[in-house]
Amino acid sequence: MNSTPAYNRILLKLSGEALAGEQGFGINPDIVRNIAQQIVEVSKLPVQVGIVIGGGNIFRGLAASKAGFDRVSADYMGMLATVINALALQDALEKVDLETRVMTAINMEEIAEPFIRRKAIRHLEKGRVVIFAGGTGNPYFTTDTTAVLRAIEIEAEVILKGTKVDGVYDKDPVKFSEAVKFDEVSYLDVVEKGLEVMDFTAVTLSMDNELPIIVFNMTKEHNLRSVVLGEKIGTQVTG
Ligand code: GTP
Repeated sequence: MNSTPAYNRILLKLSGEALAGEQGFGINPDIVRNIAQQIVEVSKLPVQVGIVIGGGNIFRGLAASKAGFDRVSADYMGMLATVINALALQDALEKVDLETRVMTAINMEEIAEPFIRRKAIRHLEKGRVVIFAGGTGNPYFTTDTTAVLRAIEIEAEVILKGTKVDGVYDKDPVKFSEAVKFDEVSYLDVVEKGLEVMDFTAVTLSMDNELPIIVFNMTKEHNLRSVVLGEKIGTQVTG
């Protein structure tokens, strides 16, 4: 079996909901352990791993603002939720003996290091998994956009978006059994057809910087490793 990674440095994007499992909210320790296990597999290849994690399992800023919260406050609450998730993931990764660093976009030095690009790259070069928490530090930006921004900053070669579905479909595969999965789509297709990959800000930022995105099912064991080894699973979004 091929064991030569296709990438030297990746940015893994996980949704906050990925940590919640079936219960749909909060943090499920078994799920976090499974995710950590998949990250160990690729880290040992070796591949340098940066991670951006969402916060939707704890607080969804956009939904809360629609429900009447001030949008900016709601977004800050969402950013804090990503820090909680980052600490949970850090704990799970350290329990399987990976060295990790959490870096936050909003300073909270008692909890984690501030995000400093050069320091993040140094950590990655030393084989540490770096978790970028707190979004971009600004309201109105999603954690998908954060993932693209950090990926560009740390010069990751690809964004791997781990989801619960096998890739990008022409329509929602949960609702429509005839939905067709794409092996590849272009950034422009994603925008024009309104495909559910990432929000448009994230997709166009990737496009401008020629950063490929691979959407794949992270709930299947060893899938992260397979993607990193260059297997054609999921959907690749490129120019
Ligand atoms: P190098 O020695 O430069 O390779 O990196 P290092 O991260 O091991 O060194 P450093 O002395 O910067 O950090 C030692 C420990 O302190 C690590 O666990 C860091 O995550 C942690 N640390 C560093 N800076 C901060 C900070 O601003 N806040 C918090 N909470 N922890 C920090």
